[in-house]
Amino acid sequence: MAQLQATPVRTLSLSGRRRGGGAATRPQRSMVAFRCSASARGYNITLLPGDGIGPEVVAVAKDALSVAGSKEGFELRFQEMLMGGAALDAVGVPLPDETLAAARKSDAILLGAIGGYKWDNNEKHLKPETGLLSIRAGLGVFANLRPATVLPQLVDASTLKKEVAEGVDIMVVRELTGGIYFGKPRGFGTNDKGEEIGFNTELYAVSEIDRIARVAFEVARKRGGKLCSVDKANVLEASMLWRKRVSAIASEYPDVELSHMYVDNAAMQLVRNPKQFDTIVTNNIFGDILSDEASMITGSIGMLPSASVGESGPGLFEPIHGSAPDIAGQDKANPLATILSAAMLLKYGLGLESAAKRIELGTYILLARHWLDASEWERKS
Ligand SMILES: NC(=O)c1ccc[n+]([C@@H]2O[C@H](COP(=O)([O-])OP(=O)(O)OC[C@H]3O[C@@H](n4cnc5c(N)ncnc54)[C@H](O)[C@@H]3O)[C@@H](O)[C@H]2O)c1
Repeated sequence: MAQLQATPVRTLSLSGRRRGGGAATRPQRSMVAFRCSASARGYNITLLPGDGIGPEVVAVAKDALSVAGSKEGFELRFQEMLMGGAALDAVGVPLPDETLAAARKSDAILLGAIGGYKWDNNEKHLKPETGLLSIRAGLGVFANLRPATVLPQLVDASTLKKEVAEGVDIMVVRELTGGIYFGKPRGFGTNDKGEEIGFNTELYAVSEIDRIARVAFEVARKRGGKLCSVDKANVLEASMLWRKRVSAIASEYPDVELSHMYVDNAAMQLVRNPKQFDTIVTNNIFGDILSDEASMITGSIGMLPSASVGESGPGLFEPIHGSAPDIAGQDKANPLATILSAAMLLKYGLGLESAAKRIELGTYILLARHWLDASEWERKS
């Protein structure tokens, strides 16, 4: 197991594809920040294999990262740490302090998946999922990036018509640590009529909106240069503030085209004409729902990566699927979502775009080969 070295932190700006290709006015610093090791071509990666198929898919993604590093001339130093059910079994907690400390010190974190039948009936604080929430909170990652890309080889896996699904390439940027899931007051009570009620609060501060908006503008700038902000500003005050602040932040990104859409319309447009979207930014609850809806356009959760990033410090990169205990240890797990998460780690975590591209292209070639093999097999049989 490689030793993790403490590294000084510096914040780097992301550069990349821009609409029109011209030089753009940049904000003072990138909000999709990442750590860079003291040694410019060496990076410390914490691996959290977790449970079920987690160790299987992380091992493959680790190899992909090492190959990309050797081809591109940088070194990746890996340190494997315990998390989830594996940590519960070994040390009695789902997120040991040493794991969080190592993760914080590293340049990026790659997580497999956590959970399984064995720990399903544990008390809440002893569930593997508690470890996941704790590491997200401990790293201060507030932006969740969920791409939904329909690959040509898998277009028939979509439930949408081929002409609607093909070519879809959407990134949903979801605010992860605020809004109605965390807003207070919340709880149960009694109304004026003595009837039992449950209540929650949708609440956003300017600073929370500004920082997620900047992440989304940075991401859109690296993609097709179009950002659609989704809200419910016709009804909700928190959404009115959201729209006002996203519009204000837009002045820092003149190279990105901003539009606004109400969430009910966005849910409809995602299945009517998903190709109209490039990057979507939205709050926690709308993002939860819309990112799942966008994922399903691709037809395969085994292919979907994700990234969670904060203002500074390392990002957390993981497939969206779970630990699949039903197929664990049977060599049936599809590692592509984790490999694509590794590509996101390189692109959004370390700013190594050409290395990320190598992994993405390798994945697509692998898929094409698999698809050709399958067609050949079908033809012969
Ligand atoms: N982020 C995470 O770590 C995460 C996310 C979701 C669920 N979970 C946990 O995972 C466990 C199982 O949950 P679930 O069954 O609801 O969801 P799941 O994603 O693990 O599995 C759903 C279905 O998809 C299949 N599947 C998932 N990933 C696959 C892959 N890479 N290759 C091939 N098939 C794959 C599984 O075999 C299963 O049939 C639970 O303990 C749950 O809490 C963890």
